[in-house]
Amino acid sequence: MSETTTLPLEPPREPPREPLPIAQIGEPVLRVRAREVTLDELRSPEFQRFIDQLIATMHHAKGAGLAANQVFQPVQACAIEVRDNPRYPYKPNIPLTVLINPVLEPLSAERFDNFEGCLSVPNLRGVVPRYAELRVRALDRHGAPLDFEVRGITAGTFQHEVDHLEGKLFLDRVEDRTSLCTWDAFHRYQEPAFRARVEALVARWGS
Ligand code: NI
Repeated sequence: MSETTTLPLEPPREPPREPLPIAQIGEPVLRVRAREVTLDELRSPEFQRFIDQLIATMHHAKGAGLAANQVFQPVQACAIEVRDNPRYPYKPNIPLTVLINPVLEPLSAERFDNFEGCLSVPNLRGVVPRYAELRVRALDRHGAPLDFEVRGITAGTFQHEVDHLEGKLFLDRVEDRTSLCTWDAFHRYQEPAFRARVEALVARWGS
């Protein structure tokens, strides 16, 4: 080998996307309203990297969604995705959606009982009444406006995530406290009946 041999240049490597720590109930960051994100901030490489980390953390934790304040960043940003999720086998799929500064508007007064859990509330589930039809307005991760409607069980997932950005946890909205249960008890006593309710919702609303 001659001395002029050079090593091939390696392509710049992405820093590894370690999952971020997830705030657990009791952390004050979960209880404040997250602040709005400016367009300049949203388009910065730092913020784009943060969104990638938020998504990677949601995937790692097998969540159906994750809000920025759940990873200690109190800004109006959340990610939602359901893709054959083993944590929620009865949930219809939702394509990966990033919402910045989201605003939800119920399209009717109709509500349904959703059985919810949360990555920030260890081993607890409970029934939460949620609107069945919503208009969603937000920016996407690049700052383009989003305006769409969601219905059925999927609408419950959107309300859960946007609640986080308001400083609310699903526990605050549980009306029947006797519904509170561990994941194990949910699987044992509640899941068959809840699955049937979800099937009826999906049959009615398509999602
Ligand atoms: Ni949650």
